[in-house]
Amino acid sequence: MIIAIDGPAGSGKSTVSKAVAKRLGILYVDTGAMYRALTLKAIRKGCGFEDEKALIDLSAETEINLQASGDTLKVFLDGEDVGAQIRTAELTNVVRYIARVPGVRSRMAELQRSVCAESDAVLEGRDIGTIVFPNAEFKFYLDADPKERANRRLKDLMATGHKMTLEEVEKAVKIRDKGDMTRQAGPLRCAEDAIVIDTTRLTAEEVAEKVLKTIHEAKKS
Ligand code: DC
Repeated sequence: MIIAIDGPAGSGKSTVSKAVAKRLGILYVDTGAMYRALTLKAIRKGCGFEDEKALIDLSAETEINLQASGDTLKVFLDGEDVGAQIRTAELTNVVRYIARVPGVRSRMAELQRSVCAESDAVLEGRDIGTIVFPNAEFKFYLDADPKERANRRLKDLMATGHKMTLEEVEKAVKIRDKGDMTRQAGPLRCAEDAIVIDTTRLTAEEVAEKVLKTIHEAKKS
């Protein structure tokens, strides 16, 4: 069983996906973390963001592993735990240059499919229900008011010691939305058969309950 949870930054995907996977006792795959890890490697190697070939070659020779550890997910880049380094505001602002390269996306999709080859999973991302698993049993698209999404991002950033104003975060979220929605390869889109949930006025627990209820009801019938 594959559960695809797509949506823009700050829509609540991570908390909800983690909670749903935990309740169902299945794998949780944060595909954004994979793009983030590859971006970190590109920065370290000094790869130009315009050099598509170098980025594709880099993705082919990179090993990215996700490992659940209690309530958190450890991200290993070529064996190194890079959990904290891939969440900085600076890195977040440049992932889009890597995520827009078609050859990189196909490599990431391949990796994501192989991770789930032998187990049920909840995958969160931008293109899971449209490209990576178009035949997923369950597809959800989470969305929320941009102001609320920026507020959530600001809270996350403050929790990890980043100092930014709401205006700065709103601007960054807008740029990220635009990059995600307008790229040629794997743009953020709601799959036609996805269930849309507006999370603006809901807690993550309420959204997770909605998702779980949908799954349980479909399984009963
Ligand atoms: O979900 P996130 O914020 O950690 O994602 C980081 C970046 O990776 C975001 O700019 C969009 C990109 N991404 C993507 O293009 N495709 C995915 N399946 C997941 C993330």
